[in-house]
Amino acid sequence: MSDTQNTPETATNHHGRLERKVAVITGSASGIGAETAKVFREQGATVVGFDLTADQPEVDLAIQGDVTSSADVAAAYAQVRETYGTVDVLFNNAGISPPDDDSILETEEDAWQRVQDVNLKSVYLCCKHGIPHLLETGGGSIINTASFVALMGAATSQIAYTASKGGVLSMSRELGVQFARQGVRVNALCPGPVDTPLLRELYANDAEAANRRLVHVPMGRFAQARELANAVLFLASDESSFITASTFMVDGGLTAAYVTPI
Ligand SMILES: NC(=O)c1ccc[n+]([C@@H]2O[C@H](COP(=O)([O-])OP(=O)(O)OC[C@H]3O[C@@H](n4cnc5c(N)ncnc54)[C@H](O)[C@@H]3O)[C@@H](O)[C@H]2O)c1
Repeated sequence: MSDTQNTPETATNHHGRLERKVAVITGSASGIGAETAKVFREQGATVVGFDLTADQPEVDLAIQGDVTSSADVAAAYAQVRETYGTVDVLFNNAGISPPDDDSILETEEDAWQRVQDVNLKSVYLCCKHGIPHLLETGGGSIINTASFVALMGAATSQIAYTASKGGVLSMSRELGVQFARQGVRVNALCPGPVDTPLLRELYANDAEAANRRLVHVPMGRFAQARELANAVLFLASDESSFITASTFMVDGGLTAAYVTPI
């Protein structure tokens, strides 16, 4: 391992849990990505954001690009390598949940394709173009954002979203296995419902739907973005050095519950 990697013992001795690490976060302008950028920087990382907008207040270097574009993604990593010499952490987090993705009976092919491209093809591209840099610069940690819907079925469906997140989960697992002996860890973050613009948009006109979902969360509330960011921090840092190919639930107990307390 290069000197950008700490052993598990030394990692916790550092004031910054991500000191000397360079992290690239997609979807860094909003929600979970923006909060994670903030937490990563507090812990000493250099953070490169990649989003459709250049307005990314929490990052050291903001790259404007589209995660569905192979050229944009490859150029972003090349720029990071050129600027900082290393790439240590990838948080592949950009995703969409558009209103025209609904029941399979209503969801048309354009919505299906758009969701697969932004949520799933993006993770393929970020890993395909990112992993070579990690391999060349001493290994690292990749966190791909899936969702609890990769594990559970909902009667009120967003079929393209669910299918895309299932893909992210199984792809992450296989990449974790493939690269385990080469110092590259890959984990799938599976959030339960998080209070972000994405979720607010979904429930803006439907308080009843929000309440229906809360009934299934043992903790009886949505997560704060910070609670996801803290989990991503753990997976990104050397404290999680024996964790790879995992289905990392951060869901307030949602996927474990049959009946919840009231
Ligand atoms: N909010 C939740 O309840 C929840 C639950 C489970 C999983 N997730 C997942 O977490 C991730 C982040 O969600 P969030 O709630 O923070 O969403 P958000 O809408 O707040 O932020 C998503 C960001 O991704 C960016 N983005 C969208 N398309 C892009 C593209 N083509 N190229 C580059 N950037 C693009 C957006 O500009 C935005 O800044 C997503 O993958 C989402 O599916 C969210």
